[in-house]
Amino acid sequence: MSNERKIYGVAALFTKPDDIIKAASKVANEGYSKWDVNTPYPLHGMDNAMKLKPSKLGFITLFCGLSGTALILMLTYFTNSIDFPLVIGGKQFFALPAYIPITFEVTVLLATVSTVIAMLTFFFKFPSNNHVLHDTPYMKKVSLDHFGIVIEVSDPKFEQSKVEELLRSFDPESIEIIYHKEEIKYPIFEPKFITFLIIVALAVSGGTYITLNKLMFITPFDWMMYQDKVIPQSRIELFKDERGMRTPVEGTVAKGFIPYPYLAVDEPPEYLSNPLIPSRENLKLGKKKFLTYCSPCHGNFGDGDSRLHDQFPNPPSLHSQRIRNFEDGKFYHIITNGKNVMPSYTAQINRNERWAIVNYIRVLHRAKNASEQDLELVIKETGTNVAN
Ligand code: HEC
Repeated sequence: MSNERKIYGVAALFTKPDDIIKAASKVANEGYSKWDVNTPYPLHGMDNAMKLKPSKLGFITLFCGLSGTALILMLTYFTNSIDFPLVIGGKQFFALPAYIPITFEVTVLLATVSTVIAMLTFFFKFPSNNHVLHDTPYMKKVSLDHFGIVIEVSDPKFEQSKVEELLRSFDPESIEIIYHKEEIKYPIFEPKFITFLIIVALAVSGGTYITLNKLMFITPFDWMMYQDKVIPQSRIELFKDERGMRTPVEGTVAKGFIPYPYLAVDEPPEYLSNPLIPSRENLKLGKKKFLTYCSPCHGNFGDGDSRLHDQFPNPPSLHSQRIRNFEDGKFYHIITNGKNVMPSYTAQINRNERWAIVNYIRVLHRAKNASEQDLELVIKETGTNVAN
């Protein structure tokens, strides 16, 4: 019976690693191309003996990794610069350093995942999980304590008698002929049976659906189910574009929200004027917020000498002549937008508090440059001579 079966290849089995390496290098020299070696563990020198070329897998890894880089750069550019531009710390929309980590991660992710998938599909022929050598006595031996070499029939140089002679010349423990497996037919995969299964499945599920949902269905609370209302993301025929969610009419301002026209603008053409008077109450608020949000970097008195000194890019003193000449609106603009490495504080400090801080900065300015009259005023108010 075995004579009728198709031969897959001729195998030789060895007991010593040295023998298989010698055999492999001779088979390679003979010019065979469809052959392989099976050993229970990796053998040093086998790649050279088999004259294997470096794997082409690396090109797939490189290609997919670079595609990942390009893809994520395009995505971040599109989302943050075109689709949904967000001002973050007054930086330009596409600020590359922020995207380096995600770029690196996506590059590595695509490179590795595609390497595994390419290896499985191109090299291991996934989804086929079968190989002629599986479950043969040969495979059992080479996964235990033997070293095997197989020359396949599909090799253009294959001639059974010559191959056997060549293998025998290596003085192997045994020579085996490996046959293709007989194809096993399962009646369960007969098209007729599968069609029958599909029809039964459709009939049962369809019948159940119709019985439960149509024949036996009683609408519960249908006065609540069918209301005249629009829910988010729903469709409504009332409007031409049929969208339930409406975009606000152009120029609409949300209640309680005052828009700031100079977001992400470096130097606005004009600055807003301070709506707060420097009352005791406002200054108290400004001092509190300055000490909470500004002093960690700028120092308690704005000298640029905070406890973060040298751990963060040092902020400038707020007492230079240049900054003393800033308009109130310019301070407001910097707190709102941030400035270079200084982040925006809109999320932490509301509009009123920002103006209060500006007033408090003016107090610091005056305190650092007090005139004789200022000193007299303080002595009169507090009864102490602060100069001492
Ligand atoms: C995280 C640290 C940090 C905090 C907190 C911070 N700043 Fe700054 N600030 C900086 C740095 C750094 C600079 C210098 C930026 C640059 O490179 O121009 C700066 C610059 C400034 C400048 C001067 C800009 C110029 O043109 O020279 C002003 C004014 C200023 N900050 C005000 C404030 C106010 C008001 C607050 C509180 C709401 C505040 N900063 C909070 C770090 C900070």
